[in-house]
Amino acid sequence: MMTIKVTSCGKLYVAGEYAILTPGQTALIKNIPIYMQASIRPASHIQLHSDMFEYSVGMEEDENYSLIQETIKVWARYRDRNPVDLPPFELKISGKMEEDGLKYGIGSSGSVTILVLKALASFSEIELSPDLLFRLASYVLLARGDNGSMGDLACIAYDAFISFQSFDRKRVRLYLETHSLQETLDLDWGYQIEVIHPQLPCQFLVGWTRQPAISKDLIRQVQAAIDSEFLRVTNLATLSCKEAFLKGNRVGVKKSLNHISDLLENLSPAIYTQKLYQLRFLASQYDAVAKSSGAGGGDCGIAFVFDKDVLEHLLQDWQQAGIKLLYQEDLS
Ligand code: PMV
Ligand code: MG
Repeated sequence: MMTIKVTSCGKLYVAGEYAILTPGQTALIKNIPIYMQASIRPASHIQLHSDMFEYSVGMEEDENYSLIQETIKVWARYRDRNPVDLPPFELKISGKMEEDGLKYGIGSSGSVTILVLKALASFSEIELSPDLLFRLASYVLLARGDNGSMGDLACIAYDAFISFQSFDRKRVRLYLETHSLQETLDLDWGYQIEVIHPQLPCQFLVGWTRQPAISKDLIRQVQAAIDSEFLRVTNLATLSCKEAFLKGNRVGVKKSLNHISDLLENLSPAIYTQKLYQLRFLASQYDAVAKSSGAGGGDCGIAFVFDKDVLEHLLQDWQQAGIKLLYQEDLS
């Protein structure tokens, strides 16, 4: 058997971050085609290498490799086996989604989970639908006690611009404690994932602040401030943003994203750092809209630019402000 290669993408929130932590809310999340790679091939025993670390391991307990190892355990359970009874393999992971030791913040931990599942499935010649991939990856993170919405996994599993309606994670976590993996997968979790195809000619930009932020800490810090009014208004704006993208309504996209951005700014001072604030402000001088993305506190911001002629100017402004263009996509 030859070496099999698979990849998994990054993601960024366009709208609905923080609100999406509450079941039933909607977020828009865009795939970012900066990929992690895995190669897997037969070996005498399980061997795991990640370019994040200077050493490789097997299945013996290792803090750094625990996410990869737990993903393998969930896969083994899905196959009704113990990890030692899986056909043994060597798994190599690369593509750290970082530069000079600073992470981009485009979803590397979610991406690793999806990547490992894709590699294991290909190795067993099993085809996993994006939906099953999403549920298996969510299972791994829920069982680990992750405090995220799992929206990142939905986007990365589909490798698409999606609209995600969140599910009751507490309910699924309680359920999985007393039920088998298969029973948990068979349960109706109550989420909705829809791939969206914007009909709006524009440039999508990702600006990187070079300030690493840790989502789980920001969630802890901000969570108490999320109230029903924030949820109600954010959801309305997110749904109208989605509608505006689908209908090619430029004014609607600008208005709703600015509104969501204001709501985030008011939610907690931890979200908009100086650089993210600048990223947004600089875009607002042109026919464009920009905001922080995801948990904020650094990492990346996003922009939609509707006039190609201003691109050069905006990118210069960003550069002067110390914001690096990480990714650009023509959405027309
Ligand atoms: O900063 P990111 O890309 O990890 O996004 C976090 C988005 C939150 O809504 C704040 C948390 C979540 O898991 O949805
Ligand atoms: Mg982030």
